[in-house]
Amino acid sequence: MDGPSGSGKSSASRGVARALGLRYLDTGAMYRAITWWMLERGVDLADPEAIAARALDPVLSMGTDPDAPSVAVDGADAAVAIRTSEVTAAVSAVSAVPEVRRRLVAEQREIIGLGGIVVEGRDIGTVVTPGAPVKVYLTASADARALRRTAELTGTTVEAQRAAMARRDTLDSTRKTDPLAMAADAVELDTTALNLEEVIAEVLRVIKE
Ligand code: C5P
Repeated sequence: MDGPSGSGKSSASRGVARALGLRYLDTGAMYRAITWWMLERGVDLADPEAIAARALDPVLSMGTDPDAPSVAVDGADAAVAIRTSEVTAAVSAVSAVPEVRRRLVAEQREIIGLGGIVVEGRDIGTVVTPGAPVKVYLTASADARALRRTAELTGTTVEAQRAAMARRDTLDSTRKTDPLAMAADAVELDTTALNLEEVIAEVLRVIKE
C-alpha cells in the first residue's frame, strides 16, 4: 500500500491486515526512527554524507502485530518519539539518502520474506516488493489529507498542515533514489470521499478480485 502523506495508508493497512489475519509493517516508521536517532545525536541533516556515515548505526526492531505495531531503536520503544513535528519535518532529508534506503529496503524485504503481510510506504510496489500479489495506491485531495492530519494533531491548523504535507510530498516524489510513485500494476484508490470502513472494504474487494 503506497501513497502520499495523509492518504489514509496506516489506518487502512492495519484494518486490512486485521481483517485477513496478516501482519502489518509501517515502513515510514522505520525512516522516522532513523531520523529521530540522528536528531538525538546531533547529526547534521543538511549534510547527506553525515547521514550516510551513520546510516547503519541505529538498531531497529519492528513489531508487526496490526493490533499493536511497535518500533524500537537500540532496544528502546520509540513509538511516540518518532511522531513529533521535528521528526516529520526532517524525515524527507534522511529518507533521500541512498545508504539509508539501501539498509531499510533490505530489512523490509527480510520482514516481508516471512510471508503474510500488509506493507505501507512510498516505494513498496515499485522497489521493495515489485512482485507483491496486490498493490494499492491510495490518494486523496490535498484538502482532505490536511483535514485528516489536523484532526490527529493538536496545536496546528489545516493551512499549516497543507503546506507541510505539500513540502514533504514534493521532497518524497522528486528525490533521486526510490521516489514516491505508483506502480504500473497498482490499483489507484481515491479516498477523498470515503470513510475508513469504506476504504478497508474497497481494498478487501480488490484483494478478492
Ligand atoms: O508514512 P510516513 O508519513 O510516516 O513516512 C515518513 C517519511 O518516511 C516519508 O515522508 C518519506 O520521506 C519516508 N518514507 C520513504 N519510503 C517509504 C516510507 C516512508 O521514503 N517506503
